[in-house]
Amino acid sequence: MVERRAEHAVKFFYSHLFWHNPGVRDLFPVSSEDMERQRDRLFAALTHVVSRLDDDAAIGPYLHDLGRDHRKFLIRPEHYAVVGSSLLAALAATSGDAWTPQVEKAWTEAYQVIADAMLAGAGASEDPPWWDAEVVRHLQYGQDIGVLTLRPHAPFPYLPGQYTSVSSERVPRTWRTYSIGNAPRPDGTVDLHVSRIDRGRLSTALVSETQPGEVLKLGAAGGQLTFRRSDRPVSLIAAGTGWAPIRALLEELADRPPDQDVRLFVVARDGAHLYDRPLIDAYGTSCGWLDVTYITPAPGRHRNEATDRLATALSNRGLWPDQDVYLSGPAQFIDETAHLLEELGARPARLFHDSVPAGGPGHEQPGRPLGFGEWFLNRPAPHWHNPSARAPKEH
Ligand SMILES: Cc1cc2nc3c(=O)[nH]c(=O)nc-3n(C[C@H](O)[C@H](O)[C@H](O)COP(=O)(O)OP(=O)(O)OC[C@H]3O[C@@H](n4cnc5c(N)ncnc54)[C@H](O)[C@@H]3O)c2cc1C
Ligand code: HEM
Repeated sequence: MVERRAEHAVKFFYSHLFWHNPGVRDLFPVSSEDMERQRDRLFAALTHVVSRLDDDAAIGPYLHDLGRDHRKFLIRPEHYAVVGSSLLAALAATSGDAWTPQVEKAWTEAYQVIADAMLAGAGASEDPPWWDAEVVRHLQYGQDIGVLTLRPHAPFPYLPGQYTSVSSERVPRTWRTYSIGNAPRPDGTVDLHVSRIDRGRLSTALVSETQPGEVLKLGAAGGQLTFRRSDRPVSLIAAGTGWAPIRALLEELADRPPDQDVRLFVVARDGAHLYDRPLIDAYGTSCGWLDVTYITPAPGRHRNEATDRLATALSNRGLWPDQDVYLSGPAQFIDETAHLLEELGARPARLFHDSVPAGGPGHEQPGRPLGFGEWFLNRPAPHWHNPSARAPKEH
């Protein structure tokens, strides 16, 4: 019933929250477009989690991590009570006669279970709420790509292939996700490969404005694009700055060479976007187990041609059912390539990637990929790799 009247409920929820707790507005992003997005996210998250509390074993660890991660939004324990009051007020106002004392009691208890789980996650974490990290280098490749090297002020744990969330004082209270472009280094520095999106708030600030000496904030690393050692052949497929986590995986493999062959496909919209080509060539030469294929459109041709060329290259290279495939790039690229690979016989349970387009497979909704939290709550059909804590099943 509430979902049918979601728009009304969400407006009521935020009006109630900000009217009764004016300071809470300052915790949310300044931009109205971000707030529109947030309206959907927080409220949808609350209602989704409540409806899954009984039957989803993964919800406990998820809420634990979500609570830990909310510390970077400066959320304090007392905020949970005021959000709970506004949620209940919004549900009551939207449910009409269906809002009986029993229903109210059930929602109150359910919210308390969620808040307790998130607060327990926040309280148990020994990590800082975020890591301050100084920009020590900014390499620019053309207008649109910047590789930032950051030095976190405290040890920052992550695995090769994972991502982190990033925030800059230039765009206050706005967090976006970026893959870490290297395996852990002795000096603790991390690289982010950022592609500037037209009118994109944080990517523009990072690529076009951020200078060495500035301090960014990093959230806890996450994501499941980590290497699974197996005896199966491996393909790594990267597009655009999706190269970043694949580069991290390759660094790990170069350090501890795999027993099997690895095929690397690097897709770029043009030569300028093959910004790491010298390094990739060096890997291709020095690693006997690595076979590299570059895919770019012919000069002057539309960039969609790269996708066609990728399709041809993948079709020409058989044996997909036997492979572990790691995919990284824009959400639409992942969506299209995963479908193509499945048509070629690749096993869905052996396709590993982090983000899927909003709406999941079959829904053509271009735009911003889902963050981990949002993705989890809109989990796609089971044949997609699930980047939550569970290991993928073998089919
Ligand atoms: C798991 C994961 C890993 C990621 N890793 C990287 C990475 O390594 N490097 C990197 O550059 N980015 C990466 N991203 C994307 C990144 O998180 C941001 O979404 C991107 O930088 C845009 O943020 P913004 O603030 O600049 O744009 P926003 O201000 O959020 O968006 C501006 C406008 O552009 C649209 N838009 C946003 N993103 C896209 C897009 N990708 N394609 C088309 N339209 C879009 C929005 O709908 C909006 O209308 C990753 C995303 C995820 C989920
Ligand atoms: C109690 C249950 C809660 C749930 C289920 C929940 C869920 C979420 C989710 C899924 C996100 C998106 C994060 C991501 O993409 O990884 C989010 C972001 C956020 N939440 Fe919560 N949240 C809860 C409580 C709260 C509370 C109590 C506050 C305090 C006001 C709060 C404030 C925020 C803020 C400020 C953001 C970031 C906004 C942005 O980046 O646009 N949340 N929340």
